[in-house]
Amino acid sequence: MSSRGTFSNKFGFIMAAAGSAVGLGNIWGFPFKAANGGGAAFLFIYILCCFILCFPVMITEISIGRNTTKNAIGAFPKLGFPKWRFVGFIGVFCGVMILSFYNVVASWAFGYFLNLSIGNFEIGNHFADFTKDIYTIIIYAFIFMFITGFIISKGVTKGIEQASKIMMPTLFAILIGLVLYSLTLPNAVIGVSYYLIPDFSEVSISTIYIALGQAFFSLSLGMGMQLTYGSYVNKADNIVSSAMWITLTDLSVAFLAGFMMFPIIAYMNNGDMSNVTGGPGLIFVTLPGVFETLGTVTGSIVGSLFFLLLCFAALTSTISLLEVPVAWCVDELKMNRSIATWGTALIIFILGIPCVLANGYSDFWTNFITYGGKETPTDYLSFVNDFASELLLPLGGTIMTFFAAYIWKTKNMNEEICLGYPNYKGSFVELFLNFTVKYFCPVILFIIFIFTILNKFFGITIF
Ligand code: PHE
Repeated sequence: MSSRGTFSNKFGFIMAAAGSAVGLGNIWGFPFKAANGGGAAFLFIYILCCFILCFPVMITEISIGRNTTKNAIGAFPKLGFPKWRFVGFIGVFCGVMILSFYNVVASWAFGYFLNLSIGNFEIGNHFADFTKDIYTIIIYAFIFMFITGFIISKGVTKGIEQASKIMMPTLFAILIGLVLYSLTLPNAVIGVSYYLIPDFSEVSISTIYIALGQAFFSLSLGMGMQLTYGSYVNKADNIVSSAMWITLTDLSVAFLAGFMMFPIIAYMNNGDMSNVTGGPGLIFVTLPGVFETLGTVTGSIVGSLFFLLLCFAALTSTISLLEVPVAWCVDELKMNRSIATWGTALIIFILGIPCVLANGYSDFWTNFITYGGKETPTDYLSFVNDFASELLLPLGGTIMTFFAAYIWKTKNMNEEICLGYPNYKGSFVELFLNFTVKYFCPVILFIIFIFTILNKFFGITIF
């Protein structure tokens, strides 16, 4: 087992898994979904989704991993169910797809970090040209993948754990610094109220569905990532409390990101919050302009720190995405870790090249597909995101919980949890997990999967 590597302690595991969870999704996904979905009302639904639905899935994945000390694919034969290996294959495939586009978006953040460190605020006015300059982006994407590969090639303790232990606290420190700074800007209160004042009229069935999808992606569930990291966890560790810490850390970063973004937007719009949009446009077009108004020195410090924060958030996620296929190559195909790392990193980097071309450079990749019920085509990068994150992750989660409940059986899962949590048997937590893993998660996740297919790809809205 030692040749596979292990996390040196519970803290190391929490930092690594929380690092995977905290990513681009927290910083540009969550705050805007919250603001558009009814502010505090959305937050409330989101917290419920995290704890009632996602938390049991996370525990399921971690227990399978720790019980088998295997990767996402090899875990199933190790438990005696070789046919279920397909779940792992879906996971590895999904991780590869997510990493292929995620690395490209991370490389934009990296490019912006470099530009803003030297005070080039103009970059914000040229975002379209920036993404179309494919040779530069390919170099940035290569560097980002190289750093990811470098950390993964160092192994679990010296690579993943060590890097996360440095990056996560730094990320927190930068985030808190930026939040405090944002809150001192004029009109900060307007921004915060826009973010948080509950508006129940905005809440509908689709809000719940958006909150769930966001929580699932944000907690890196459904593709065997928590399973793989779980396989490096000590038997004596309490998985339930680790999963609680991971969920809470991810939630707090998402929540705090809103306190950083909305005061900045309110400041920029002089308190007019009537047409706020999120996503890449805001991050890469609007924000650099705001940083410029802070003055050259303050602007480049605040601006480069912001993009450094994004890079760190992305990097702790990209390493976890790369670890899933690498662990499989090392365990099952008996490859040397370095070869496995550089081989997979290279393949995924190449798979990401169409994502680089999908932002206006190539017509084919930019207008890749037109979903049913839509008039305008979707580009390849967004398509991969929709397909892998919105479709395959809930599917993975459905099958994984179904497997744990009815094939492997909750009794065995409970025994695994008990190893690091002696009072677990007979506790409320056990009752709760038994119920959610058996009945709640597989059913709800499957419903979401069906809704996504109908709604996203065929334009059929049921609610
Ligand atoms: N959780 C990451 C984010 O919020 C993305 C991710 C998804 C990472 C799945 C690993 C696995 O950005």
